[in-house]
Amino acid sequence: MANKSPLINVMERAARKAGRGLLRDFGEVEQLQVSTKGPGDFVSNADHKAERLLYEELLRVRPDFGFLMEESGEKPGKEDAYRWIVDPLDGTTNFLHGIPHFCISIGVEARSVLGGKLTREIVAGIVYDPVHDQTYWAEKGMGAFLNDRRIRVSGRVDLATSVIASGLPTLERADHDEHIAQTRAFMDRVAGLRRFGSAALDLAWVAAGRYDGFWEVALSPWDIAAGIILVREAGGTVTELNGGTEMMASGSILASNSRMHTQLQDILRKCSAND
Ligand code: IPD
Ligand code: CA
Ligand code: CA
Repeated sequence: MANKSPLINVMERAARKAGRGLLRDFGEVEQLQVSTKGPGDFVSNADHKAERLLYEELLRVRPDFGFLMEESGEKPGKEDAYRWIVDPLDGTTNFLHGIPHFCISIGVEARSVLGGKLTREIVAGIVYDPVHDQTYWAEKGMGAFLNDRRIRVSGRVDLATSVIASGLPTLERADHDEHIAQTRAFMDRVAGLRRFGSAALDLAWVAAGRYDGFWEVALSPWDIAAGIILVREAGGTVTELNGGTEMMASGSILASNSRMHTQLQDILRKCSAND
């Protein structure tokens, strides 16, 4: 039985509450008033409501923490030591199409000044899947869990038996050819490729050993904050596609079960537009 810290408990309580609202709205998805935030990026009423609820809940229990939220942006805290990084609905396109694969993602970022330099680190995260009532959670040094069960990345080493997930670029993006080259390269080598439409759940599924790897670019910090610590605490490796470690700033991410990281990175590097 997993012992959740007070921090994880407050995150889970907030996520479950917001998740109940999302589920209600998901049931009435046709009636939702939908506005567009740009091609391929729909924002629903449900999204805003969930974010408001998460903000109010988390602010009440940790009044000093700052926020970085997808819809309302940055809100500095009373102290700068911690901030919540919140995606109130990851998998919006699925949600709006009635596809039951979406989640709430909350990460906790710690900031400290070391030798005059500001460092940021994700120290806790939760990805809540309300459709299946599954809570993926992790805290630095404590391991990763799915509900009360410890999770670990897969033990696979052989690409030919692996399942790899990704996120496809949509309408407005200029990198279609590069993604097609990457997809083609993987098609030749793996047992299965998946694109399910929620980067936060993709990362949680790497942590849970369902996917052996996941890559995507042009993501935002709220898509990946919680997933990064989930994968790491489950024994996986997370880098940028080029091996760098600034995923939160660049939005480029390659997550794996560690053992296959170099193989995956080599394949991606060969398809890079800069090579
Ligand atoms: C999106 C999802 C999707 C990814 C997109 C993200 P949203 O987040 O994570 O899987 O491919 O790039 O923007 O818009 O559903 O919160
Ligand atoms: Ca998202
Ligand atoms: Ca979102």
